Amino acid sequence: MTASNAPAASGTTDVVLEAAGLTKHFPIRRRLRTLFGEQRAVHAVDHVDFVLRRGRVTAMVGESGSGKSTVARVMAQLVRQTGGKVLLHGEPVNAHGRGFRAYCRRVQMVFQDPFASLNPIHTVRYHLTRALKIHHSDATAAELLTRVALTPPERFLSKFPHELSGGQRQRVAIARALAAGPEVLLADEPVSMLDVSIRLGVLNLLRDLRDRLNLAILYITHDIASARYFADEVLVMYAGQVVEGGSGEAVTQHAAHPYTRLLIASAPDPDRIAGQALDVEDGGTGEPPSLIAPPAGCRFNPRCPHVMARCRVETPPRLAVESNGDGPHWAACWLYDPKTVAEEAS
Ligand SMILES: Nc1ncnc2c1ncn2[C@@H]1O[C@H](COP(=O)(O)OP(=O)(O)O)[C@@H](O)[C@H]1O
Ligand code: SF4
Ligand SMILES: [Mg+2]
Repeated sequence: MTASNAPAASGTTDVVLEAAGLTKHFPIRRRLRTLFGEQRAVHAVDHVDFVLRRGRVTAMVGESGSGKSTVARVMAQLVRQTGGKVLLHGEPVNAHGRGFRAYCRRVQMVFQDPFASLNPIHTVRYHLTRALKIHHSDATAAELLTRVALTPPERFLSKFPHELSGGQRQRVAIARALAAGPEVLLADEPVSMLDVSIRLGVLNLLRDLRDRLNLAILYITHDIASARYFADEVLVMYAGQVVEGGSGEAVTQHAAHPYTRLLIASAPDPDRIAGQALDVEDGGTGEPPSLIAPPAGCRFNPRCPHVMARCRVETPPRLAVESNGDGPHWAACWLYDPKTVAEEAS
């Protein structure tokens, strides 16, 4: 049985933003082309489907190079997709169309490095009032600072980025995103450059904004433990594809895809129920595959301890994983197709 794809829910009102078959290939340089013959692109993102819902945090988890930032950049339309669609309230986004300014207002991005995203020669007041002006907002810079818990705001308005701590800088970057009055925040590793001690504060702020402003938040991270703490839903990216999805509980407590299990096993989490992590000794190691010539079939097959013949030739569809009472859950893995498993065993 194939699990229903999340985007099927796009008719429901709580879906704000949707990726449907989203694909982004980057052309490669001529010298490399000859090396790889027919393959001419980095397959950074391939046929990715997901939805972001109002008042929900969706975490996208995966190791470095799995295509997470590319997904965020395409969703924000900072770069154009090669294939597939981005839909806001069911309407495909058109970067050349009249609604594009409104799209950019509704879908805001928060970057990993707040220092790089703020201009060192301008004050906090300048950054925020400029954003408010661009988006024709009648809010004030002080109100924005209050929303991100930089209070009293007067203490921060005249400060320059270098006079703030990393956490305070990221809060200013979030306040600037809020100036647009967005419905969606795309947060690309928003805490991974911050001191461990202040990460939780920034994640709690995002959670608070989710609730107070009813925002749909995409939280991108390589840290599955933080996704477990923070996310309502979790998507796992591997080599440009989403390989598992479900509620935060389901994916982090009952990981189904061998890659997700590897990810959990290699990211120590003291709260994890013992024995939940997979036996990764036999073949669970290894490097992520080339995205120029990705492996045929399941892209995880060269690293997978459970690889079967079918895995090397056919891409697994999204298959329903038995629920442990914690919501819908699927994995793109042949292990969840009883027929395939039975055939392999015979
Ligand atoms: N502008 C680009 N040109 C060529 N390749 C790119 C570009 N941006 C990203 N890539 C490649 O796409 C893949 C995915 O990158 P990225 O989305 O940054 O992954 P992640 O955020 O998960 O670390 C990587 O192989 C990366 O080298
Ligand atoms: S489809 Fe096959 S190779 Fe891929 S994760 Fe599942 S068992 Fe492993
Ligand atoms: Mg990235």
